[in-house]
Amino acid sequence: MSDYVYNLLKKHHSVRNFKKEVIPETHIKQLVEAGQSASTSSYLQTYSIIGINDPEIKMQLKEVSGQPYVVENGYLFVFIMDYYRHAIINENAEHDMATSFESAEGLLVGTIDATLAAQNIPATAEDMGYGIVYLGSLRNDVERVREILDLPEHTFPLFGMAMGIPADDENGSPKPRLPLEHVFHQNRYNHDKESQRQSLEAFDRTVSDYYSKRTNGKREETWSQQIAQFMSSKQRLDMLEQLNKAGFIKK
Ligand SMILES: Cc1cc2nc3c(=O)[nH]c(=O)nc-3n(C[C@H](O)[C@H](O)[C@H](O)COP(=O)(O)O)c2cc1C
Repeated sequence: MSDYVYNLLKKHHSVRNFKKEVIPETHIKQLVEAGQSASTSSYLQTYSIIGINDPEIKMQLKEVSGQPYVVENGYLFVFIMDYYRHAIINENAEHDMATSFESAEGLLVGTIDATLAAQNIPATAEDMGYGIVYLGSLRNDVERVREILDLPEHTFPLFGMAMGIPADDENGSPKPRLPLEHVFHQNRYNHDKESQRQSLEAFDRTVSDYYSKRTNGKREETWSQQIAQFMSSKQRLDMLEQLNKAGFIKK
């Protein structure tokens, strides 16, 4: 038994500052293969991965995300929920399949498949010496991303991932996670609000200390404060409309 993969995963932190070096195609191919090895719901494989090395396209996507590392990286991936190929099969199918991908279940399946494939990639990339950051910021303007990437109906851009060799002065570190017993419930869900509150308070102190140490006291917010601020700012409320336009969530 080895704890190699465990130790590798425990070292993860998002990297937002990369060297300019482009990731070689051989590595990109291996990374995508690693992604493809993930399980998929009923073997449906309801995702595509778009690899982006064209600086002009990166620039256009950066305008959507507002984040410099969408351009300044060694490679960029965009993960797409993709039923386009299933829609092609449907054209000649004996019985209509569309209900399946136009349903809420279809959305869950596509999102889960794409996410499982995506998450095999950082694990492999970090072992190769690369760093990554996911980019939900591409959903700031789904219509524009569809245009830039020429996405057809029955596809939806879920998130991006910037990758590269971490810059020499990149100084990220693994962020604390919620206490294990707070996220890991044994046999049944733990509804006990008092014990949930106690773990949250303990975690708030851990996070506040973490930020304080990393920023020499400039940041001291707790996790609850950070989450409350983020979740009370209404974000991307056009997703249902965008999903409907792409042919999803009709049932
Ligand atoms: C689906 C998804 C979307 C994300 N989008 C962004 C993003 O747009 N910009 C960014 O800087 N980080 C983004 N992140 C990174 C998270 O902020 C980061 O994973 C989280 O703070 C935990 O930090 P860690 O990855 O260093 O452990 C995203 C992460 C996920 C999983």
